[in-house]
Amino acid sequence: MSGELSPIDKAKFVAAKRAADYVEDGMRVGLGTGSTAAWLVRCLGEQVREGGLRFKGVPTSTRTADLAREVGIDVISLDEAKWLDLTIDGADEFDGSLNLIKGGGGALLQEKIVATASDQMVVIADIGKEVEHLGAFPLPIEVIPFGWQTTQALVEETLVSMDVLGRQSTLRMNGSRPFVTDEGNHILDLHLQRIGNPRQLSLVINQMPGVVENGLFIDICDAVVIGYGDGRVELRDINEGTVEQDRLDFLESDNLFTDLAD
Ligand code: A5P
Repeated sequence: MSGELSPIDKAKFVAAKRAADYVEDGMRVGLGTGSTAAWLVRCLGEQVREGGLRFKGVPTSTRTADLAREVGIDVISLDEAKWLDLTIDGADEFDGSLNLIKGGGGALLQEKIVATASDQMVVIADIGKEVEHLGAFPLPIEVIPFGWQTTQALVEETLVSMDVLGRQSTLRMNGSRPFVTDEGNHILDLHLQRIGNPRQLSLVINQMPGVVENGLFIDICDAVVIGYGDGRVELRDINEGTVEQDRLDFLESDNLFTDLAD
């Protein structure tokens, strides 16, 4: 990515920059994966290098770990941290209850473990990620490679009795080979179109042998920072029931961050 940012990238950037304010000295912070989370990691790296911010970061993927180290963040493992003050991550969709679909980048397993082990999870997203009902974005599920086609058939059969509109699934590819997660597993993307009961679906899918985890995050997210292409940000806190508006100026110097690998 280089040059002038698109409105969506500006929206992701302002959401990430505003959410970086949640990080305080001494915190242990889960660092999400994806293009929005990459903005966050860059913003936090700048605050570490130039503002003297001191915190420990727990990355949710090797991609994020590499970027975090590159920008100067002190990276530790979840086992070293044991429990986190805060996790900030992107999402593929969020609804009015702040239930999420995640895993578009294939990191849903570590993301869910890290977010669940946090006092607070804050999602950063552009406004295009908000939906009335989850499911237009294909739901990723992580499956072990052994017998994955049998697992896929079982999942599709189970979907017949679920409150969803579509039942097809596809194996995620990386070029001509199956995509492989950080844990050596594969991803099936479920094309459900609309999920009527995300909580029930999540429980049922996770009971199936061969399934490691699914990308539905139910009752995990506490707040969302929504970015707009014109610099506006909206902070919604589901526990406090508050909504705050803010605006961030997009400075040319922020283009320092345009050289993103993610
Ligand atoms: C990574 O596995 C995902 O859960 C991402 O958080 C999600 O796909 C959002 O990514 P973007 O910020 O790139 O849209």
